[in-house]
Amino acid sequence: MTVSYDSLLSCQSLRVAIMGAGNVGRTLAQRIVEKDLADVVLLDVVEGLPQGIALDLMEAQGLEYHNCEVVGTNNYEETANADLVVITAGRARTPGISRDDLLAINAKIVADVAEKAYKYSPNAIFMVITNPLDVMTYLTRKVTGLPPQRVMGMAGVLDSSRLQTFIAMELGISTANVTAMVLGGHGDLMVPLPNYCTVNGIPITELLDSQTINRLMERTRNGGAEVVKLLKTGGAYYAPASAASVMIESILRDQSRLLPTAAYLQGEYGLNDIYIGVPCFLGCRGVKKILELKLSDAEQEALHISANSVRKNVHFALESVGFK
Ligand code: LAC
Repeated sequence: MTVSYDSLLSCQSLRVAIMGAGNVGRTLAQRIVEKDLADVVLLDVVEGLPQGIALDLMEAQGLEYHNCEVVGTNNYEETANADLVVITAGRARTPGISRDDLLAINAKIVADVAEKAYKYSPNAIFMVITNPLDVMTYLTRKVTGLPPQRVMGMAGVLDSSRLQTFIAMELGISTANVTAMVLGGHGDLMVPLPNYCTVNGIPITELLDSQTINRLMERTRNGGAEVVKLLKTGGAYYAPASAASVMIESILRDQSRLLPTAAYLQGEYGLNDIYIGVPCFLGCRGVKKILELKLSDAEQEALHISANSVRKNVHFALESVGFK
């Protein structure tokens, strides 16, 4: 008997296109396939690099027991019809360089990548990881002209995960018991919310003194820089890739998880026409709903200070790529 095995695994799979095969892009590809979330197309300008990484990941497929395919390419056409496009392309942080220093260089890269990716995947949801995050996310929406709920940035999940870890380390307990919430721009002005950080529902304000909480919040604000300083040659990538993969899972599996996300605000939190980190329900349509938390006056003010800084950089970024 002759049986054709051609299409045994070839039902229509979900497809994620990752733009940029640096540490974040390649680690995210690994997370996605090992969680069996979607096939991945990994694109980079460096010839051979995405192809080599894709081949290496595919050669582990039988050991990790997943059925997702990874393809590496230098050609945008091969990213066509993605359900989700993730933009990681751009210069990484190195010691002494703040996220905002990267502004002009990365604005050009992201505008170019977003335009080309959109051309081949006009129905995709776009997720931005390139820094400065909130600005690059704004730029991506501007370039693609997509409805705001289909463009978002990954940062709050990462910042919250860092705070969650620091709280668990301080108390010597499992991170599984800790929830943490960090809003605002992904930068030195981010806004950790101690009142929304809990240990199994108990506010951390009942378990830690304010001096300790301030120290953990400060470490969170510098979380990215602390890793850069240690690595010396680039930024963090394991936790950023994990954070993005949790958001991607919520979208592709329509889980409606509540995740801090850089989302487009239209009056929420008293802010307009800006991308900044706020709690969002993420599902198959992207940002399904933005949740407006009750903030203290000081937190509200901190959010607005963070937003002002993002806004200033948005103007600069738009100018540097020729938008009026
Ligand atoms: C960080 C980078 C990913 O915070 O922004 O580590």
